[in-house]
Amino acid sequence: MKTSRFVCPLDSNRDQNRHMEIKVAVIGFGRMGRFYLKAFQTDPNYRVTYICDPSPESQEKAREMAPEAKVVASEDAIFADPSVQAVALCAFADSRPAQIRRALETGKHVITEKPIADCIEREWEVVKLAEEAEQRGLFCCVNMYLLNSWYHHEMRRIVDSGELGELAIIRICHMTPGLAPGEGHEAEGPSFHDCGMHYVGLARFLAKSEYKTWHAQALRMWSWKDPWWLQVHGTMQNGIVYDVTQGFVYGQLSKDQTHNSYVELIGTQGFCHMTHDFKTAVIDLHGVNVTEHIERPHGGKNVDVLISQMAETILSGKRHPLMPRLRDSAMASEYAWKMLDDARSHEMPAIGTLDELERIRERRRNLKDGYGLLPRHNKNV
Ligand SMILES: NC(=O)c1ccc[n+]([C@@H]2O[C@H](COP(=O)([O-])OP(=O)(O)OC[C@H]3O[C@@H](n4cnc5c(N)ncnc54)[C@H](O)[C@@H]3O)[C@@H](O)[C@H]2O)c1
Repeated sequence: MKTSRFVCPLDSNRDQNRHMEIKVAVIGFGRMGRFYLKAFQTDPNYRVTYICDPSPESQEKAREMAPEAKVVASEDAIFADPSVQAVALCAFADSRPAQIRRALETGKHVITEKPIADCIEREWEVVKLAEEAEQRGLFCCVNMYLLNSWYHHEMRRIVDSGELGELAIIRICHMTPGLAPGEGHEAEGPSFHDCGMHYVGLARFLAKSEYKTWHAQALRMWSWKDPWWLQVHGTMQNGIVYDVTQGFVYGQLSKDQTHNSYVELIGTQGFCHMTHDFKTAVIDLHGVNVTEHIERPHGGKNVDVLISQMAETILSGKRHPLMPRLRDSAMASEYAWKMLDDARSHEMPAIGTLDELERIRERRRNLKDGYGLLPRHNKNV
């Protein structure tokens, strides 16, 4: 009988034979599902016993990457198997409410991708289910990965240290040549919801406050029906002002692609600035006493951090204090939708043509390496 013990992934003294393995099933085996599998395979607290995906290509990839797991086309076998203790939900938002309900009804912990449902009413229903289940010792968490990024925690620490004076202004920008309109993720909405909700959640996390006002300007790039770039600014309830810019519009047809991603916290006395190239994240602090340049590996989607928080939670029976809650995802999603609605209530120009968009999609179909590629396009995943 193995001893039950939480093993931190960074613990170099871990004894692979002395921990309990949490039996986990991955549902949805596209780009994110494969990230989860790799993270579970390197975390000794877990054993992946099932992978579920209706797509034959994904099933073939699953057999290749995890010969020890049962590969199934339907999730029924997973929910019927009482030995499965946790599920990782990596399909699309429209399938998640039913999967979360079934998981909790059959006594399984839930690690879910965002958004947690395909409309805000269902998101709040799911939050309620999760919060009731937690009273019975079943835990849920969501991959709001920016809330688990070392650089954002470091920025909060800088604010708390007083180096900036009083925090006044939050500026966030994330523009890449990412997912093009019509390519996938339709259940998750336009780019400002699908991706932008992360940044809406981040401003709330950095301000330690809820939203009070917002005014959004959007653009229907390439004359697509939905905006693919949006900028919003406004106030938080504690008086901090913010602006968030997000768009998958940054040099989609440029010869050499790049991105522009930063977070700035400006206080009454100092400021700090973070940027990254998806490999390394860098914070520059210009504080009242300290000028500092902090540089560490970016950490990607932090799936390893999330599953480690969940392992600690399951094995101790006590929620990890930093593990993102489904409520965090629902709040971010709700405000991202409200900001999109606000943008639609103003002038929303269309620039560019659907022909340009078709050239972008054609280029992305042939890219083997790039921003936000779907697995069917990317043989490396
Ligand atoms: N947290 C993040 O930063 C982040 C980043 C990217 C994607 N996501 C989210 O992760 C989810 C998956 O995104 P992706 O990029 O991996 O998409 P993807 O298209 O690469 O993969 C989705 C997979 O789910 C499968 N699938 C569809 N319906 C299913 C069902 N009912 N049961 C099981 N499998 C099903 C598809 O066949 C596909 O293989 C989306 O909700 C997306 O918004 C989150």
